[in-house]
Amino acid sequence: MSLTNFPGSSNSTPSGTSITKVTMPALAEMKRQGKPISALTAYDYATSRLVDEAGIDFILVGDSLAMVVLGHDNTLAVTVDEMLHHTRAVRRAVRRALVVADMPFGSYHGTVADGLTNAIRYIKEAGAEAVKIEGPRTELIRALSDAEIPVVGHLGLTPQSIHRMGGYRVQARTADAVQQLKAEAHAVADAGAGALVLEGVPREAAAAITAELAIPTIGIGAGPDCDGQILVFHDLLNLTFAPAAKFVRRYADAGALIRTAVEHYREDVERHAFPSDEESYHLPEAARRALEASSLRKA
Ligand code: KIV
Repeated sequence: MSLTNFPGSSNSTPSGTSITKVTMPALAEMKRQGKPISALTAYDYATSRLVDEAGIDFILVGDSLAMVVLGHDNTLAVTVDEMLHHTRAVRRAVRRALVVADMPFGSYHGTVADGLTNAIRYIKEAGAEAVKIEGPRTELIRALSDAEIPVVGHLGLTPQSIHRMGGYRVQARTADAVQQLKAEAHAVADAGAGALVLEGVPREAAAAITAELAIPTIGIGAGPDCDGQILVFHDLLNLTFAPAAKFVRRYADAGALIRTAVEHYREDVERHAFPSDEESYHLPEAARRALEASSLRKA
């Protein structure tokens, strides 16, 4: 392993161009240098390659997978094995970005030992470079850090708490709740988390936490003052079937593009316009003549 360009490490593309791998320490360095961190979710090989080649710093194999890929109503049903399956595909695609994977509901809500065992699977079996866990679970974060597993915390609107929160609601809407959130953010950072996702909180709360913490904050529905921003890939491209949250910006309408392309394909098949002769394989000339001759003899 090359140790040039610390805190990232060197990697090269098939064409030989050198790229610097984004690591957890590199994210902290970006915060120190005031360089915004771009993050996006991804769940499969093709889209992860595109996201990585577009220069996104941090790819999250989010448990939003449950909703946007697997069609569940919320994130609770996805399993560790399903998350690992997708994390492996992402890991195979990514050369530069930091690959972080979500630990799903139930995989770290029991004992610290269970959480540690599950987290080790992400690193060993799927090649994740960090795990993300929701809530101020400081004992677990400390145990994971002690076991050399980088952790991304996640506070504010934590989707795995949907039943406790009574829905997906903006959190920390009073001065007391902001103080509570700040205390949790400090506790998560002090326990060893390397970065913190802040979701669905007022801009003012996220700005104050970002200013106080040494680790980078990555916002989603948390305003522009975080050290970085993350969106769900399917939201960015309008590949979802529910109304978008206020914080989502659609950068393209891939849903419409795909629907139109698939309709054109179906129409071409139905009117025998696909495939064309140019899109077909042909026998070599000698074989074609021999086939014609034997057909004539049989006729
Ligand atoms: O699972 C996910 O996509 C997430 C992001 C919303 C941060 O946790």
